[in-house]
Amino acid sequence: MKRNLFDLTGRTALVTGSSRGIGRAIALTLGEAGASVIFHGTRPAETLEKTLDEARSRGISCRVATGDIGKTEEVAAIAKEAGSPDIVVLNASVQMYLPVMEFEEEEFRRSYDTNLRSAFQFIKAFLPGMRERHWGRFISIGSVNQWKQSPRLPIYASTKSALVNLMMNCARQFAGDGVTFNNIAPGIIETDRNRVTLADPEMVPRLKAQVPAGWFGKPEDCAGAALLFASDAGAYITGADLPVAGGMQL
Ligand SMILES: NC(=O)c1ccc[n+]([C@@H]2O[C@H](COP(=O)([O-])OP(=O)(O)OC[C@H]3O[C@@H](n4cnc5c(N)ncnc54)[C@H](OP(=O)(O)O)[C@@H]3O)[C@@H](O)[C@H]2O)c1
Repeated sequence: MKRNLFDLTGRTALVTGSSRGIGRAIALTLGEAGASVIFHGTRPAETLEKTLDEARSRGISCRVATGDIGKTEEVAAIAKEAGSPDIVVLNASVQMYLPVMEFEEEEFRRSYDTNLRSAFQFIKAFLPGMRERHWGRFISIGSVNQWKQSPRLPIYASTKSALVNLMMNCARQFAGDGVTFNNIAPGIIETDRNRVTLADPEMVPRLKAQVPAGWFGKPEDCAGAALLFASDAGAYITGADLPVAGGMQL
């Protein structure tokens, strides 16, 4: 029988921020491809439970880890709970709509702790096991804001650029160890974080005008790229930074 390059049977995946949104869609897709999935959210919540129910109803082997990834000790606890996953999707982030001059130091710290330092901590926790097994996947979720300037998202955008830079450095350094590092940069995806904006009749046409494809993405639109990077189909892909944005990066 022909080998399925996208089969993840026998692999374990941790997807941060998979209670909802993009992380949820990615986690369900990896699970449907055969991975055993560790779902994650800030804390035990109904949304997370519903996602777990959905995963189980699809026959996905799953468990859960909760914690605020903006806090060092909670990242350490999540890492301990997760064990030694083969695939790690660094998806959860915070996004504060504030111009530079209105950003307070505490918010700055929280943005960097959540969006960047947690990635560093997870890489340090999980990379040794992956190198030992000579198989591993780190996938980060960046944003078109890596490239596009936005007066309302300067700090968020800078955390994403820094995250990609860390990923690319690791991609180069650990390519010989069977561990790949790739980034997905979504454009405008319909999730809770932009629900209010995307319900604003004045904003919708302005935002759509920025997307050459002419439509906003769904969380599922990010899942195929993640499956490619996570599977043997992506074994020779490392250091990629892939926009999933309907051309918005152009
Ligand atoms: N949506 C877009 O248009 C868009 C565009 C570009 C990039 N992105 C990026 O894509 C990723 C997912 O975005 P999304 O729109 O799917 O987000 P979302 O719908 O707002 O969901 C966020 C997820 O992250 C978790 N989370 C948030 N803060 C956390 C923290 N401090 N500690 C632990 N978990 C935390 C949430 O858990 P709880 O359910 O417990 O709160 C939830 O699972 C993010 O990195 C975002 O920057 C999104």
